[in-house]
Amino acid sequence: MLSENELRVLSLFDGISCGRIALDRAGFKVKDYYAYEIEQNAIKISRYNYPSIYQCGDVFDEDFSKYDGIDLLIGGSPCQFWASSKCSKTAKKKREVKPDGEGWNLFMQYVRALHESKPKYFLYENNYGIGEEIQAAITKELCVEPVLLDSQLVSAQRRKRLYWTNIPIKGEPENRGILVKDVIVNDSELIKQFDDRIRNTLVKCENYIKYDLSGKGHFSQQDRMYFLDNKAPTVPRCRTETKFNVWLGGETYKKTCPVEIERLQTLPDGYTEFGLNEDGSIVKMPKTRRFEAIGNGWTVDMIAWIFSFMKEKQDANNS
Ligand SMILES: C[S@@+](CC[C@H](N)C(=O)[O-])C[C@H]1O[C@@H](n2cnc3c(N)ncnc32)[C@H](O)[C@@H]1O
Repeated sequence: MLSENELRVLSLFDGISCGRIALDRAGFKVKDYYAYEIEQNAIKISRYNYPSIYQCGDVFDEDFSKYDGIDLLIGGSPCQFWASSKCSKTAKKKREVKPDGEGWNLFMQYVRALHESKPKYFLYENNYGIGEEIQAAITKELCVEPVLLDSQLVSAQRRKRLYWTNIPIKGEPENRGILVKDVIVNDSELIKQFDDRIRNTLVKCENYIKYDLSGKGHFSQQDRMYFLDNKAPTVPRCRTETKFNVWLGGETYKKTCPVEIERLQTLPDGYTEFGLNEDGSIVKMPKTRRFEAIGNGWTVDMIAWIFSFMKEKQDANNS
């Protein structure tokens, strides 16, 4: 049974604490939230928004049995070792398709936390694009089948993710019909006109207009404009700023900004704008760091939907 009034939560790979926002949205009171995260920019953003979160550092350094019987364990270990679309330094390494290597080692810290803390509920998330062998091995470790959910039901972004959980979720969230036009920020500085390179190479496809800035026929993924009346692609971890241009009609298009990307992840507007240093000083987060943190994060409303089934259980237990 869940704690009656306030939850105790253990969050591994906590990032910017999207799980914490989701608990608020699902109507839970949280007593203690223990976050394990090592990326300093993510920690600063989390600390600014939730100073009461205990920032506990590296997952490898902890014996999680001190959280024995905790209400909820959540986490999504880094997927860049496993996912097919990779960027950054890890991209230069080979994609891991078997349950060994760095990605697996990180995931196994979650499994260790599960066994050591014996939570009432757990949620583990990862990318839909991970190899089948790894997916099956995760299922074997966690002893529950994954549920595939696409964030486009609750946001303007296509984002297929797998969720392994013992929370008794039913079906999928209702489609809210949110489109790109619903997340656009009105900022004249972001509005641009076609130049000859765009004008002379553009091709209209089903989900976007592509063009060739290289002049070599590359049609790079960043040389695209999305439609106002459609969905946006999955928010990536890197070079996000170049990957969400929106066609406004005629020869006009719009570049993106962090608030739009926050909206694609159903984060509160401006959630990543500031960070809090350990010494209590506030820092304005650089745009690139904001994009990275958001792309790494969860779609908050999808997680809140999953948690809502835990609430039903809590309400039933309390009645
Ligand atoms: C996919 S992101 C998870 C983001 C998170 N769900 C959120 O709401 O923002 C994975 C996170 O794991 C963190 N990470 C990687 N190695 C770690 C370690 N050894 N200990 C703790 N966190 C780690 C990364 O810095 C990254 O923020």
